[in-house]
Amino acid sequence: MDSARPICLAPMAESVEHRYAANRCQAWTRELHRILCMQGGEDDGSYAKNSEAPASAVALSKPLLEVAIRSMKLFAGEASIRIADLGCATGHNTLSTMDFLVGSLRQRYEEEFGCVPEFEAFFSDLPSNDFNSLFRSLSVFPDKKKRPFYAAGVPGSFYDRLFPKGKLHLAVSLSALHWLSQIPESVLDRRSPAWNKGRAWIDGAKEEVVEAYARQSSEDLKAFLRCRREEIMEGGLLFLLMAGRPGSQPPANQLGDPESRAKHPFTGTMDQAWADLLNEGLIDEETRDSFNIPAYMRSTEEVRKAFEECSGFEIQKLEFQRIVEHSKEKQEEWIKDPDSYGMAKANLVRATLKPIAEAHLGPALSEELFRRFQRRSSEDTTMLHKTCFYGVIAVWAVRK
Ligand SMILES: C[S@@+](CC[C@H](N)C(=O)[O-])C[C@H]1O[C@@H](n2cnc3c(N)ncnc32)[C@H](O)[C@@H]1O
Repeated sequence: MDSARPICLAPMAESVEHRYAANRCQAWTRELHRILCMQGGEDDGSYAKNSEAPASAVALSKPLLEVAIRSMKLFAGEASIRIADLGCATGHNTLSTMDFLVGSLRQRYEEEFGCVPEFEAFFSDLPSNDFNSLFRSLSVFPDKKKRPFYAAGVPGSFYDRLFPKGKLHLAVSLSALHWLSQIPESVLDRRSPAWNKGRAWIDGAKEEVVEAYARQSSEDLKAFLRCRREEIMEGGLLFLLMAGRPGSQPPANQLGDPESRAKHPFTGTMDQAWADLLNEGLIDEETRDSFNIPAYMRSTEEVRKAFEECSGFEIQKLEFQRIVEHSKEKQEEWIKDPDSYGMAKANLVRATLKPIAEAHLGPALSEELFRRFQRRSSEDTTMLHKTCFYGVIAVWAVRK
């Protein structure tokens, strides 16, 4: 359907869709662990087809992971080495990460002990993750190699315990920990100063909103570390890579330079798309204002502080890096064809936000939101010429 064409929905004030949205608007935020996931399947709006940024993050993490694994204690006499990927999603990144981890450890065991233990790989994500696609992809392992590990899926939130005490030798989490366990309660309260009017996210938001998110983020990271402290055995390694910001930036500046902030899919274009739905009478103000994206980019200091407050781990390395949003070739292709840019950007947003947008608005209106987003992205051609960046924090630590 053409994004500019009016859709067959009655004006919001009286419509069934409106009641649907109003009733559901806040319920999903308290059930985030049931809803939040990357879009499954393999179509154009799936996470598997829209994971370029996490793929760059995975590529960036490999040399760091290599260093971390090189310095990791080996466990002599263990029949199997147990590795968990927390927030694994599904798709190429998921398999290539585990393949890399097992390959690197196998090599070390071979070099240092002349024999290789068995490997158990635990793929963990929220229950709403598309584990079916993931399990299917395990049968066609890259390069038709024999899969060098036993595999299991572990559904659950990484903010809770997922494994028995001392079970794991290595746990990694890539491009996942910036997703919070919930939207802070105060941000959901219309009468609170932290009510996030007119914005879907917190970059540039009011102090009260940003503070509420920062508190939630700190509680969440500490809960994560307390769980992993129990599950990783002494000498085991925890490696995290998450979207983040440098220590010098305040939390209201989640994204760094002004262009990266303006172009990020959670900021300007997203707010315009919501405003379009409101101005067209398809939703009311409360429906718009009660939608919040549960993500937070921590600073290096915030990450360090959570480790310090949690004890149990010794940080080996903690650093911030920037990765460029797209390849030069992709950018040139899009400059010539802004419509395909709009489509690609809307698909990226579908891949990450569709489950929560649908929980908030229902499927029909959420699709309208993505169409408005697509149209706005295609129209904003000045942005196409800007080179923007994502910030990431990598940290690895040994379980003491
Ligand atoms: C951007 S994807 C990254 C996936 C993969 N690690 C990669 O590098 O491509 C983030 C993943 O984190 C998962 N996630 C978010 N919150 C989570 C939680 N509380 N517990 C477990 N997984 C979570 C999402 O479901 C999603 O699959």
